[in-house]
Amino acid sequence: MKYVIGVDLGTSAVKILLVNQKGEVVQEISRTYPLLQEKAGYSEQNPNDWVEQCVLGLRELVEKFDGDVEDIEGISFSGQMHGLVLLDEDLEPIRNAILWNDTRTTEQCRRIYDVVGEERLLEITKNPALEGFTLPKLLWVKEHEPGAYAKAKRFLLPKDYVRFALTGKLHMDYSDAAGTLLLHVSKKEWSKEICSRLDIREELCPPLVDSHEEVGTLTPEMASETGLSPRLRVFAGGADNACGAIGSGILSKGKTLCSIGTSGVVLSYEEDSDKDFQGKVHYFNHGKEDAYYTMGVTLAAGYSLSWFKEVFAGDESFEQLLAGVDTVTPGANGLIFTPYLVGERTPHADAMIRASFIGMDSAHERKHFVRAVLEGITFSLQESIELFRNSGKEINSIISIGGGAKSDAWLQMQADIFQAEVVKLSSEQGPGMGAAMLAAYGSGWFDTLEDCAHAFLQTADTYQPNPENVLIYRELFKVYKEVYNQTKSLNDQLAPFRN
Ligand code: XUL
Repeated sequence: MKYVIGVDLGTSAVKILLVNQKGEVVQEISRTYPLLQEKAGYSEQNPNDWVEQCVLGLRELVEKFDGDVEDIEGISFSGQMHGLVLLDEDLEPIRNAILWNDTRTTEQCRRIYDVVGEERLLEITKNPALEGFTLPKLLWVKEHEPGAYAKAKRFLLPKDYVRFALTGKLHMDYSDAAGTLLLHVSKKEWSKEICSRLDIREELCPPLVDSHEEVGTLTPEMASETGLSPRLRVFAGGADNACGAIGSGILSKGKTLCSIGTSGVVLSYEEDSDKDFQGKVHYFNHGKEDAYYTMGVTLAAGYSLSWFKEVFAGDESFEQLLAGVDTVTPGANGLIFTPYLVGERTPHADAMIRASFIGMDSAHERKHFVRAVLEGITFSLQESIELFRNSGKEINSIISIGGGAKSDAWLQMQADIFQAEVVKLSSEQGPGMGAAMLAAYGSGWFDTLEDCAHAFLQTADTYQPNPENVLIYRELFKVYKEVYNQTKSLNDQLAPFRN
């Protein structure tokens, strides 16, 4: 039996999957690293923490593997998007990486619009200037840490840095490059125009490749540290959302995905680059060659639940926290949560908004709060689905992966709120599985990614909307949407009090 490895470099942990030729996950290793939040709105990680945990994880995988390591044929990567890793001339990180959920760059986003123009930016990058994207972060470093910027020789995204540490080769794939706001998305090349207008040195941008492209092998040091073969073939990989799409079989028109990790996304396959959503949703290159996807993002999806657990149920497991939510009726007895813990992206691109619980009553118990958190996250994703539907997309069936697919109660809630059939796959590993599939396809196991999806992915269960709950949630969704408008100015007034 042959194997491939899929590495998913997430925000809270790196997950490493060993997948066999039948698409079975035969081993799964997870290792965490800290998130550094020096101030409200800041979110950073140390790139070397990623590398260290990834190498330790790979070593653990090899130690537990009872076959011949030469049978592990390929490895590929999925990674948290947009994070800025700046490298000096020795290709060492100059500072911590500034992550996708860091919102310090509102000023820089304004400047991008002033200099490039909103319309022109959309034409080139297909996306608006959002705080989370990489270009505003690059401009922030240039303005606030000129010494660091002057030393910079290259920039990479998180998983590209890990792959570089393993192979010694610098690359970035199109699906991740699309989230930098420096890529001409349809031409698949770095935008000279944006670089020159914003005075960004084009040499900072690394060579571009397709997600399935072979980019090298492990360095002898990394082969010996991990125990993997120096002949292991390394494939570029992609953005976590692109890999989530691959790992869920979102490889043709009409397919929609709901993925709940630290962030939450609703993502839809696009065949070409010329649909016009006027920047209301993200528009990125897919990890499948010459395909695209559109996507709405909830910044704090799984993060809202883990924040709640950490603050109010520190030493309990998620199972303990979620126990009893299915005994609470839809609407959590009149309690609504908006998940704006770190600001929001879709449909409100707003770095200043913060979360609320509305309607707290002395009869509410903790389980009502937990249900309200799950409902609030799901309502937020429904706002993206509504945007897609209003633009003419038909969405009747949605594949759900990540944390949202681990609980029956939450899957049913998704069907009721999304008013669509919700499909659970036998592996809800999306991004890690997508990375493994890129390695399997790259290694020549299949002629196409679609063939690989056909062989690797199976439906485990489907959830149909319950008509009674649909009616309740339709009413509550109207109230949910009002909370943003009603709390916007309150949150603006509170902003100066944040640290
Ligand atoms: C997408 C985004 C997040 C990160 C999370 O634009 O910022 O989904 O990719 O890892």
